[in-house]
Amino acid sequence: MHTYLIEMLECPVCHDKLEWTISERSGDRIEAAEARCSACDAVYPVRDGIGLFLTPELPRNDMWDQVDSGVIQYLREHPELERQLMEVPLGTLAPADQFFRALVLEDRGKYHKAQITEDLANKDLYTQDYLNCWNSQMDYVIERLAETDGPIVDMASGRCYFVEKIVRKLKRPVVATDFSPGVLRRDRRWLESFGLYDHVSLLAFDARRTPFKDGAVVTLTTNLGLPNIEEPGSLLRELRRIAAGIFLAISHFFPEEDKSNAKVIREAGLQTLLFQRAALKKFTEAGWELEVKNPCVGSARPTPPGVVLEGARMDGLPVAETNLEWCVLLGSSKVTD
Ligand SMILES: C[S@@+](CC[C@H](N)C(=O)[O-])C[C@H]1O[C@@H](n2cnc3c(N)ncnc32)[C@H](O)[C@@H]1O
Repeated sequence: MHTYLIEMLECPVCHDKLEWTISERSGDRIEAAEARCSACDAVYPVRDGIGLFLTPELPRNDMWDQVDSGVIQYLREHPELERQLMEVPLGTLAPADQFFRALVLEDRGKYHKAQITEDLANKDLYTQDYLNCWNSQMDYVIERLAETDGPIVDMASGRCYFVEKIVRKLKRPVVATDFSPGVLRRDRRWLESFGLYDHVSLLAFDARRTPFKDGAVVTLTTNLGLPNIEEPGSLLRELRRIAAGIFLAISHFFPEEDKSNAKVIREAGLQTLLFQRAALKKFTEAGWELEVKNPCVGSARPTPPGVVLEGARMDGLPVAETNLEWCVLLGSSKVTD
């Protein structure tokens, strides 16, 4: 993490000051350190350059880390499947299997090949509509970001798909955040291999309890990150607490009349942030002024399952073909144009 973050951070539990003991630096980065809360004595380490601000009392359902490492582990135990994934022409694999091949390439440190493979997989995993609407939202956010200054804090950055795009286009400081240290360690290796890491700080924390001071974040983004986070009310109040400027949230919503998808969404407890009306209400209740920008509707279908990794799917939703409503939710303390 970069040293400029010290000024922006506090104890995520009691919001008191942090006392920093830095044991390893590299230029304007902190590689190893301990930040101790002066009030509650909690200690937050920085390891391998990643700031770890996870708090013990919030349970974590870290399924992204589990899926990535789970696939690699499964393939280690089944070398014949790994051979089937890796030793056939790429174009003959189902798109989900292409994605799993990209994970293996990544695990072997072959990042450039992994990227080409993942891009190819995405073309057939998603409908053209889905990709067009999604790209349009990312382009819109990047255009808006170009009008702002200072570090951009991205929430639930996951595999850094969007962070990577921001850095490539704007060459601005970005703080990629996620509650999964494993995903962030992977992001560091990935960004380093493409020469993009210089711009990025990595922080692990729960988005419902962040280590940022009140109003410390001027520009906040997320790429489809919100619905995955539990307790949307606490999440949106916490983001409102730390935000001093704008929040650009790339979002997609399901039609309420779409019964098959709605059933699964409700069973998974994701109804608040995957239906537009409910999401807008929650944002407003949490104190955000909200505008819907760049709306766009596009068809989406269930991602096709793997054949080598039989039945494995990339995304749990949609479960039936539908039309997604895409947009950027622009949150601010006052309405902007
Ligand atoms: C689907 S990814 C988002 C995609 C990502 N923004 C991108 O551009 O590649 C969702 C991420 O949310 C993270 N997540 C889920 N709950 C969280 C929480 N409470 N706090 C922080 N991150 C969380 C997961 O670890 C996962 O990496």
